[in-house]
Amino acid sequence: MFDRISGVYDRMNRVMTAGLDRTWRARAAERSRLEPGQSALDLCCGTGDVALVLAGRVGPDGRVVGADFSQPMLEIAASKPTPAGAAPVEFVRADALDLPFEEESFDAVTIAFGARNLADLDRGLEEMRRVLVPGGRLVILEITQPHRQPLKVFFGLWFDRIVPMLGKLAGDSAAYEYLPESVRSFPDAPSLGARMDGAGFRHVRWTLMAGGIIALHSAVK
Ligand SMILES: C[S@@+](CC[C@H](N)C(=O)[O-])C[C@H]1O[C@@H](n2cnc3c(N)ncnc32)[C@H](O)[C@@H]1O
Repeated sequence: MFDRISGVYDRMNRVMTAGLDRTWRARAAERSRLEPGQSALDLCCGTGDVALVLAGRVGPDGRVVGADFSQPMLEIAASKPTPAGAAPVEFVRADALDLPFEEESFDAVTIAFGARNLADLDRGLEEMRRVLVPGGRLVILEITQPHRQPLKVFFGLWFDRIVPMLGKLAGDSAAYEYLPESVRSFPDAPSLGARMDGAGFRHVRWTLMAGGIIALHSAVK
């Protein structure tokens, strides 16, 4: 599915979020607390936007790897210019559930709008923990179901009616019907926090953004 929508993915994100996705990705990168010279893995990197922001944070002496299992997504990511003074990003084809990296390889792992798509969330969290150094940070940015009105009504209208309609216009209604379904079947913010805790992470915390529709979780190995 992600291979299929790779060509419209960035444009759909900008339209669906009115451009706010850039701010959310920047907040996720900040939450990684990466310092110049450190290393980061951006999982389910898609078209690479978070990985490129991380590359700016770690600077030319740092290391950033973007991993995704969709080759067309990776090709778009690799075609984007690296910001001045940033580390060159290595984009690699890999399965988040079976990562081709040694234990304790990265100072931070980020995953933006990817955790919801993992076929086995607990296995994914286990892999993220394995590749982090002790004290390393995990950051998860994800769409979440708002519990409070009026955003709850807006969420239903936007995701059940407008997003599938935009998907139809973009030529792939099935993919954009999957989006609200995947959000509904994903744990809400407190439950995701509990899963992170259960996977052995500590200092689990989260912030809700955009009126409770976007959750930014972080934790420490
Ligand atoms: C919604 S996109 C998010 C892309 C990007 N992180 C962003 O912020 O826009 C989800 C991505 O997760 C990838 N993905 C899903 N499951 C995966 C897995 N098990 N291993 C690697 N990539 C996966 C898809 O190929 C897709 O590019």
